[in-house]
Amino acid sequence: METSIQIRHLAPSDFEVISPVVDEWWGGRQVGQSLPRLFFEHFAPTSFALVHGSEVRAFLVGFRSQSNPGVAYIHFVGVAPAYRRGGYGRILYTHFFECATSLGCTEVQCITSPINVGSIAFHKRMGFRIISVGGEQNGVPVCLDYAGKGKHRVRFSRLLAPGNDGT
Ligand SMILES: CC(C)(COP(=O)(O)OP(=O)(O)OC[C@H]1O[C@@H](n2cnc3c(N)ncnc32)[C@H](O)[C@@H]1OP(=O)(O)O)[C@@H](O)C(=O)NCCC(=O)NCCS
Repeated sequence: METSIQIRHLAPSDFEVISPVVDEWWGGRQVGQSLPRLFFEHFAPTSFALVHGSEVRAFLVGFRSQSNPGVAYIHFVGVAPAYRRGGYGRILYTHFFECATSLGCTEVQCITSPINVGSIAFHKRMGFRIISVGGEQNGVPVCLDYAGKGKHRVRFSRLLAPGNDGT
């Protein structure tokens, strides 16, 4: 990892910095409403910012499932467009995997939109397998109506087994 880069927990004040840019980071998709302030206030122990000085270059919002403590869930991950394909996403995911393992989790789950081909490719490289059942969109297995009527989603799972780094 670059020595000038640090990973720290998300803080409530990061909401002011991240919330205004997420729609742009997601290519204009209106995703900001899915990232309310509560994640910055109540999920900090399992959520991280990758920073260069005071500049937030990437972030991850995750948590341990309240229903199934063996499962950790990644709700959001975003890397500023200028820094993509430089390993920041992998660094944050690896950090989260270590955090989740230390909490006793054995599996990480997440979802993405079937139109988000970059995210699907990223998750496959990070060792996730698709666990969606019920339908297909753009040639990708999806869970139909998972996020609401007509909002199909790709579901991913990755076991936190040693050596499962997706490479
Ligand atoms: C998805 C995202 C987080 C990836 O972050 P990143 O820092 O660019 O990813 P990395 O550089 O760490 O890449 C990790 C691996 O995934 C691969 N990968 C990343 N983005 C990819 C893409 N668009 N297409 C194909 N492969 C990709 C890389 O080649 C790399 O593989 P390797 O390490 O085996 O060589 C970033 O593109 C992003 O913020 N996208 C917009 C927000 C989003 O869609 N988030 C996910 C849904 S919540």
